[in-house]
Amino acid sequence: MKKMTFLLSVMMFIMAQVYAQKESKTLVAYFSATGNTRTAAKEIAKQKKAVLWEIEPSEHYTAEDLNWRNKQSRSSKEMSDAEARPSIKQCTNIMPYDTIYVGFPIWWGICPRIINSWIDNNLEQLESKTLVPFATSGSSGIDGAVNYLKKTYPTLTWQKGILKK
Ligand SMILES: Cc1cc2nc3c(=O)[nH]c(=O)nc-3n(C[C@H](O)[C@H](O)[C@H](O)COP(=O)(O)O)c2cc1C
Repeated sequence: MKKMTFLLSVMMFIMAQVYAQKESKTLVAYFSATGNTRTAAKEIAKQKKAVLWEIEPSEHYTAEDLNWRNKQSRSSKEMSDAEARPSIKQCTNIMPYDTIYVGFPIWWGICPRIINSWIDNNLEQLESKTLVPFATSGSSGIDGAVNYLKKTYPTLTWQKGILKK
C-alpha cells in the first residue's frame, strides 16, 4: 500500500512538471535602461503567464551613456554604428519556448543595438520561434523598429509589433 502511494505521488509530481512546462511556453525577453520597458514586460508576462527574462548589458548604461543630445555618448556611438553589438551579461535559455516577446525602448527610431546582440547570440534557435516585438518610447511608433528587425533578420518570424504606453 505504501509503495502504491509512493508511486502515485511520483506520477502526480511528473504530471505536474509536464503540465507546468506546457503552460510556460512563452518567454518575455526585454531590455530596459530606465525601467519603462521593464514595467511593460512585467505586464505582458502576467497577462500571458509567461516567463520573464531581462536582457542585461555587461556594462550598465549610466545617465550620461543615455544622453542622445551628446554625439559622443555611449548610446549615440552605438546607434550610429549599425555593427555595434554591446555585450550581454548572461545568455538566455530560449529552448523551451515557442513564442518570445522581445521588448525594448525605442532608440533613434529603432531597437537598441543590445537587441541585435541578443538576437545574434540566439539566431539559430530563434529560427523556430514566433517573435512578438514590443516597445516603449517617448513618442515614436514601433513600425520603424519592426521593419528594421524584419529587414535585418529576414529568416525570423516576426509578428506585428506592440507599442506599450
Ligand atoms: C538613447 C535614447 C534614444 C531614444 N530615442 C527615442 C526615439 O527615437 N523616439 C522616441 O520616441 N523615444 C526615444 N527615446 C525615449 C525612450 O524610448 C523612452 O523613454 C523609453 O520608454 C525608455 O524605456 P526604458 O525606461 O525601458 O529604457 C530614446 C531614449 C534614449 C535613452
